[in-house]
Amino acid sequence: MSRSEKEFHQSRFPYTNFHLHKSFLNISYKYASLFSFTKPKPFYFLLFSISMAFTTMPSSLTNSTSSPTMLLPPISHHNNHILPPNKLIVNKPQRKLLHLTVANVASPSLPLITPPTPEEQLPGTTAGRHHHHHVAWTSISQESWEGELQVEGHIPPWLNGTYLRNGPGMWHIGDYDFRHLFDGYATVVKLRLQEGRLFAGHRQIESEAYRAAKKNQKICYREFSEVPKAANFLAYVGELASLFSGASLTDNANTGVVKLGDGRVVCLTETQKGSIVIDPETLETVGKFEYSDSLGGLIHSAHPVVTDKEFVTLLPDLVRAGYLVVRMEPGTNERRVIGRVNCRGGSSPGWVHSFPVTEHYVVVPEMPLRYCAQNLLKAEPTPLYKFEWHPQSKAFMHVMCKTSGNIVASVEVPLFVTFHFINAYEEEDEDGRVTAIIADCCEHNSDPTILDRLRLQNLRSFNGEDVLPDARVGRFRIPLDGSPYGELDAALDPNEHGKGMDMCSINPNHLGKKYRYAYACGAQRPCNFPNTLTKLDLELKKATNWHEEGAVPSEPFFVARPGATEEDDGVVISIVSEKNGEGYALLLDGSTFEEIARAKFPYGLPYGLHGCWVPKE
Ligand SMILES: [Fe+2]
Repeated sequence: MSRSEKEFHQSRFPYTNFHLHKSFLNISYKYASLFSFTKPKPFYFLLFSISMAFTTMPSSLTNSTSSPTMLLPPISHHNNHILPPNKLIVNKPQRKLLHLTVANVASPSLPLITPPTPEEQLPGTTAGRHHHHHVAWTSISQESWEGELQVEGHIPPWLNGTYLRNGPGMWHIGDYDFRHLFDGYATVVKLRLQEGRLFAGHRQIESEAYRAAKKNQKICYREFSEVPKAANFLAYVGELASLFSGASLTDNANTGVVKLGDGRVVCLTETQKGSIVIDPETLETVGKFEYSDSLGGLIHSAHPVVTDKEFVTLLPDLVRAGYLVVRMEPGTNERRVIGRVNCRGGSSPGWVHSFPVTEHYVVVPEMPLRYCAQNLLKAEPTPLYKFEWHPQSKAFMHVMCKTSGNIVASVEVPLFVTFHFINAYEEEDEDGRVTAIIADCCEHNSDPTILDRLRLQNLRSFNGEDVLPDARVGRFRIPLDGSPYGELDAALDPNEHGKGMDMCSINPNHLGKKYRYAYACGAQRPCNFPNTLTKLDLELKKATNWHEEGAVPSEPFFVARPGATEEDDGVVISIVSEKNGEGYALLLDGSTFEEIARAKFPYGLPYGLHGCWVPKE
């Protein structure tokens, strides 16, 4: 351990000494040899220890049962208030959450919902009229709500099914306020569309992390930027041990939600243990999704590529910098390895929040925003959280054949920063030979500061200043002729979408194939967060923007009309949080991008991240 590392640890953890660290590192080495993809060499042991900070042990070691279908204890049907019984915080009304029960259970026979009464509209929650902050960045006011919404406009009669949206909707526990957007406890929202009517609801996901936080009124697991505070030396020792074992990692599945080919609906985040099955009708937590294979490597991409036929994802290997590309079939919990990509730059893999696929290939991005061992150990967040920006380590794109696992291209590309890939496809010459892979993403002009812009303090303190960093649709061209370099350019003039770009969707029938349209959030400046819904025409290189003053819309999600032949024949669903504290579900026509319907919630909902569509059987 270097002198500076020692100083850091001694300043942060005055109870510790070097020998203590050594013993824990030895423990971690033991774990490394058990759960790494590769047998670790001694000098990898520190890195492995760190990798555990994002990962977890197999259930056979962390739980008394190794059953692959272990369920959480039964969930109460009552609204589990985040405050423990008999512990109302009367001195802090902004922390007093509503003791509401479900206002109206959705049922065709019930009347339309009414908003909470004035007494129920407490400040500091999403149900209050006088928010301290924009409702988009305000914790959800109650555990769950369900009811029918009054629809203005016209919902197409073919649109029958449920849109689910996941996101971090609870940013405090007890008196403690979280710091980063990505830390919040998961809130799932549903919009069930049925013959022109709209039934909505939301519910908290009962992860272990959330339940422990409620019970103990403090953070008990390592979240994106939050780390449980060690109360004393013994607690610190326990925390170190559980960091190395992975047991302290969160299972707060607050990032996305997917419908597997077998119908199971799974909420996800970047830790593998944060894979949680929910009931798409009631939004109740069914239980953990336990991967039955023994692949180890305990983090994964938050955005697997999921179709009716497969679930493909990437498992970063923090010990021997690289990625496993894995595939899981519907009806199973077992991932099988397609192949492995070794990183070409740096000793740690780049962050892979998402990745694209084509019909025959998986594209593995190697971004110079890399997982960072030291940052993972720190209790206080750094500007780049668990990551570090290493421009000197360069950026690469790797292309793997889906069937053989062979790497067919590995090229250096210009530096880039992206959370979300939009789509990818194979470019063919006149004879139908594949000459290159085209991969599009929401690209932040190779500037990682966007991550820190998503601190809640920044999001909540908008004062009219234009502080959202510029972004664009980054289009990679990865040649398959053995050339060492790939290209990266803007797919259209970023001014078309206000130089803001993120949270994208496409017509899923065009996944991995040549496509023309994408839907995303752009910017109407000045702003501090993407605040428009944008339809991108990548052929004409034009964008159409929807915007309402003060509104924060979530990811525009495209649902294709059954039987449609045009790519943009369908609707776009978004959930809008309004400046005045209210909020509504919004439906835009996928083709004209004009509003076709909106339906007000009884109170504005916090911002959410990613969604999926569960069609009515
Ligand atoms: Fe995401």
